Amino acid sequence: MDVHAAIHERRTIHSYRPEALQPGVLERALESAHQAPCHKLTFPWRFVVSGPRSREALANVAVSLKSAGRTLPAEKITAIQNKILDPAELVVVTQIRCDDAFRSREDYAACACAIQNMSLSLTSDGVGSKWSTGGLTRDRGAYDLLGIDSAVEEIIGFIWVGLPAETPAVKRPALDSVVRRVE
Ligand SMILES: Cc1cc2nc3c(=O)[nH]c(=O)nc-3n(C[C@H](O)[C@H](O)[C@H](O)COP(=O)(O)O)c2cc1C
Repeated sequence: MDVHAAIHERRTIHSYRPEALQPGVLERALESAHQAPCHKLTFPWRFVVSGPRSREALANVAVSLKSAGRTLPAEKITAIQNKILDPAELVVVTQIRCDDAFRSREDYAACACAIQNMSLSLTSDGVGSKWSTGGLTRDRGAYDLLGIDSAVEEIIGFIWVGLPAETPAVKRPALDSVVRRVE
C-alpha cells in the first residue's frame, strides 16, 4: 500500500477482533515510529509493549476507574475488561520529560509524528489502531504496574493495536474550509 492510500485508509478503531498479529507487524510499526522527525535529535519517545499480566492489571484498574465506588453489573465489568483485553497489542507511548516548556512542546509534536508513523505502518499491514488519552493514561496505578517512572517519563497515549471488528467512517470538513491561500 502506498503512503497516500495508508493516510486515507487509516481510521481510529474502537472495537477489535481478539486475534494475534502476523509476526513482524508490531516490530515494523515500532521501527516506523522511531523514524519520526524530532527537533534537536532529542528522540523523546519511548514505547512500552504491555504483555498479558500488565494488560490484566490495567483491565482491573479500568474497572475501578469506571465504577468510581459503585458496584457495576457483571456484564458492564466484562465489557470494560474486554475493551482492554481484546486488541492484540497495547503499546504505551511515553515522552521523556524536560523542564524547558518550548522543548517539551516540540518533543510532544515529535511523539505525535511517531504515533502517526506507527498507525500508518499498521494500516499498510491491514491492522487497526487507536490513540487513547483516557483516564487510564494518567492513573498512578497504571504507571506503577507498567514500571514507568513518572518523574522521568509522561504517558502520552495508549495505542490499541489489532484487527478491526468494525471500521467507522469519519466525515471530515471540506478541504476548502481548512485551507486559505494568500498572495
Ligand atoms: C491526541 C489524540 C488523543 C486521542 N484520544 C482518544 C481517546 O482517548 N479516545 C478515543 O476514542 N479516541 C481518541 N483519539 C482518536 C480520535 O477520536 C480520532 O482521531 C477522531 O475521532 C478521528 O477519527 P480518525 O482517527 O479515524 O480520523 C485521539 C486522537 C488523538 C490525535
